[in-house]
Amino acid sequence: DKRNDFSGRKVLVTAGPTREPLDPVRYVSNHSSGKMGWSLANALYQRGAEVTLVSGPVHLDPPYGITKISVETADQMYSTVTQLQANQDLIIMAAAVADFSPANPYSIKWKKTQDITVPEFQFTTNQDILAHLCQHRPSGQYIVGFAAETCDVSRNAQAKLKRKGADMIVANLVAGKNKGFTVDTNRVELFTPQGRLTESAGTKDQVAHDILDQVVQQCQDLWIR
Ligand code: PMT
Repeated sequence: DKRNDFSGRKVLVTAGPTREPLDPVRYVSNHSSGKMGWSLANALYQRGAEVTLVSGPVHLDPPYGITKISVETADQMYSTVTQLQANQDLIIMAAAVADFSPANPYSIKWKKTQDITVPEFQFTTNQDILAHLCQHRPSGQYIVGFAAETCDVSRNAQAKLKRKGADMIVANLVAGKNKGFTVDTNRVELFTPQGRLTESAGTKDQVAHDILDQVVQQCQDLWIR
């Protein structure tokens, strides 16, 4: 029964954006609403999984039946997720984690002054959480990444799959209408290291179930106990 095909499985889902502070009142972030991650967490709960959701700041109510942990920065998401990794059968990284953070955020609010100077920020590269998880993957754990792309979706997504070492990547074109950030619908293509699996389009809830259908198939041998 599909409704119980994740029964007893421990699954970690990440969602939402991260916020990287420039000063105490300003930050660098992105357009992720958390909806795709929420849809995955809800679908997993419906299908019997024990779900932990690690999310950046979003405006969504906590999903029913799911343990939700809130984080703000990429650094906080890294430490939270890596601490939870060991226990999971499946990890799905739908969060839009910042690749770069301001290296030296101001400790007080930066003010426009008479002798006006434009603030200049140096950025540092954040740890790649997905790549780290894949390098420390315990046996029996399956790891799904997302790839948000504005062009050359399939080529860029497959390069990311390879570079980060994930088991599956969900390629998400984030340019154009009715897909990607913020909206309730999405259109994605799924890849494993063996190649293209399928595509899915519809509401984020429908797309979430389609992704899980593929994950179950891929994990048939991995999850035999
Ligand atoms: O939240 P919504 O509004 O519903 O929008 C959904 C979405 C577009 C955010 C989602 O479908 C999506 O594509 N999420 C991934 C966004 C992203 O950061 O993609 P990326 O191509 O930059 O990163 C690739 C993968 O590496 C992702 O799984 C990401 O979580 C992970 N990553 C990225 C950077 C980093 N420092 N650590 C990471 O783990």
